[in-house]
Amino acid sequence: MTILVTGGAGFIGSNFVLDWLGASDETILNLDALTYAGNQQNLAALQGDARHVFVHGDIADRALLDRLFAEHRPRAIVHFAAESHVDRSIHGPGAFIKTNVEGTFTLLEAARAHWGALSGDDRADFRFHHVSTDEVYGSLGPTDPAFTEDHLYQPNSPYSASKAASDHLVRAWHHTYGLPVLTTNCSNNYGPFHFPEKLIPLMIVNALAGKPLPLYGDGQQVRDWLFVADHCSAIRTVLAKGRVGQTYNIGGWNEMTNKQIVHRVCALLDELRPSAEGPYARLITHVADRPGHDRRYAIDARKIERELGWRPAETFDTGIRKTVQWYLDHADWVANVQSGSYRDWLATNYAAR
Ligand code: NAD
Ligand code: TYD
Repeated sequence: MTILVTGGAGFIGSNFVLDWLGASDETILNLDALTYAGNQQNLAALQGDARHVFVHGDIADRALLDRLFAEHRPRAIVHFAAESHVDRSIHGPGAFIKTNVEGTFTLLEAARAHWGALSGDDRADFRFHHVSTDEVYGSLGPTDPAFTEDHLYQPNSPYSASKAASDHLVRAWHHTYGLPVLTTNCSNNYGPFHFPEKLIPLMIVNALAGKPLPLYGDGQQVRDWLFVADHCSAIRTVLAKGRVGQTYNIGGWNEMTNKQIVHRVCALLDELRPSAEGPYARLITHVADRPGHDRRYAIDARKIERELGWRPAETFDTGIRKTVQWYLDHADWVANVQSGSYRDWLATNYAAR
């Protein structure tokens, strides 16, 4: 048996692939375009492992998808591939429409053709699992209840709008064609292999380099944070037991302001790698806010717990400690991803703030 994973060289995808092959012998066909966010180094532990088949290619390439479906006959798809960074979507939304909307459409069509030709148990058991975000629901006020699966879609950034569009396509392919889909909407992840354009890894690598820690606006924006291994276990659970056509919210029951997050990262670094210059919090710098910045996200993850028995295993304290330690232990990985194009991004996003 084989599952097709898209975007399996990115942050969450590579964690999922490593996790999956740590727990099962089912082959993974990993399709990834290796954009700036894709990194085969994340999968180095699988070199020579016949259970991992890597294909360098685009989810919007229909001919490639048809060939892969015919050759590997996957029993399920776990679809991670996306452009995923809100700030990049503000500077260049085109790539988000291309991959998140057109790419998902192409993948759905190829999956529909493959599934349509199946019969019996193969057809009944096939799954298309779409990995999405809580950002499709928009922004909450300070005392609003957390997002449930029934919350209105109110995306505010080009990123969240493109993910919302992809969620709608997935829903329609189920409703209209009967494709057996599952959708999960998860809160902010953190953990190993997180590309240092996102808040937590950016703060860790900047602090270690003695660079400013740029907090957007007043730093009082709230996110719910989930350790990436918990997201992977939630996806495995939904894929195995989720009801076809349903969506499940995934979260860590852990709302924190950005300011709290950055202070926590600084305190851990003070403990694990103290700086001769003094506490890392001295580097915190308030910079111009993100345009259209969503104030608060919060996830009500009771449905997945009630129906499927999933809850996160890590607390923020345990997860962030593992994460900071991982970055301290993987200076080579950090150095490799800080290539020329990464430096270009820092200049684009931070120079004028
Ligand atoms: P990422 O940016 O780290 O990785 C994305 C991966 O997709 C990369 O390996 C990239 O090369 C690949 N990719 C991009 N365009 C592609 C294309 N056209 N064809 C094939 N591969 C392509 O993203 P991530 O943080 O790992 O997020 C994975 C998924 O989870 C995304 O769909 C994202 O919307 C969703 N998600 C992320 C978070 C989070 O906190 N990071 C939270 C909830 C949901
Ligand atoms: P990010 O990691 O980009 O995730 P998302 O925007 O998808 O939630 O950002 C998390 C929060 O941190 C968000 O409120 C923006 C803020 N942020 C900063 O304050 N400074 C930064 O340099 C970055 C990258 C993010």
